[in-house]
Amino acid sequence: MDERLVVVGSLNMDLSVTVPRLPGPGETVSGADVVRGPGGKGGNQAVAAARLGARVRMVGLLGDDAHGGELRAALVAEGIDDGAVGTLPGAASGLALIVVQDDGENTITLSPGANDRLDESMLRALTDGTVANRADTVLLQLEVPLPTVLAAAREARAAGALTVLNAAPLPAPGPLLTELLREVDVLVVNETEAAGLLRLPDVSSVARDESWTARAERLRLLGPGTVVVTLGAAGAAAADGRCRLTEPGFPIDAMDTVGAGDAFCAQLALALGPGRPLAPALRRACAAGAVAATRRGAQQALPTRAEVDALVSRDPV
Ligand code: RIB
Repeated sequence: MDERLVVVGSLNMDLSVTVPRLPGPGETVSGADVVRGPGGKGGNQAVAAARLGARVRMVGLLGDDAHGGELRAALVAEGIDDGAVGTLPGAASGLALIVVQDDGENTITLSPGANDRLDESMLRALTDGTVANRADTVLLQLEVPLPTVLAAAREARAAGALTVLNAAPLPAPGPLLTELLREVDVLVVNETEAAGLLRLPDVSSVARDESWTARAERLRLLGPGTVVVTLGAAGAAAADGRCRLTEPGFPIDAMDTVGAGDAFCAQLALALGPGRPLAPALRRACAAGAVAATRRGAQQALPTRAEVDALVSRDPV
């Protein structure tokens, strides 16, 4: 594989504790020892793409603290070009406080730190005005400011790159989000985000009255040519104007789903491209997410290309 991918997004240090069950409001639950490791949706998707065989450039912002140094080293260790990753004097790096339940379910609380300071002028300064940098694909998420993501998407599209947006975490509806969706070629959302974008009252009502592929088709009306909805253990649903599909996913014992969505997005972004069919891309993306969910941590858990190949060929359609 020789895809060139640019990721514009967040870099966080993840502090993660596994507990028998997630605490409710006002409740204290004791868990295992803290596990610390590199994360952030941007960093995770960049590392996943590199392990899956792409040439990757990361665009992001770190604080000038110890976490910043470790996060940069983690990118470099994967062969990722960190030339457009800045260090902001006096700022803290992004930090994620993660609680993982025994069955893999999790909650995440973010302190964005330097990620929140990646504004449009910083984006231009870091990339010398060329976000796409001759890449085939630009992959975006929403853990950095929305105007920056919109500027990056516009520039990437103008440069002829495929723009892929993982709309997570989903912000409140507004004109910037509406504009962004019109600049995106491929949109990836989970069920909650899909329900939010469609202004549905709650997620559980969705599958009852309409299939996820039909919902994906309706999300296309917001702008993206291709829409993929991830369904956790149930796989994914998608629509691209030519077809509607569901991919049932791979049976696994989930240990920690943090980073599974990032593995999915990176693999999908690499496997899709002009004229490339959706079905095999969706299947590989589900395999990448499945492997990541079988291991603890975010970047530590991301699969290699060989692992995805092995799972896809072990379970033929
Ligand atoms: O998608 C998982 C990521 O979300 C974690 O690594 C954490 O940093 C949060 O950003």
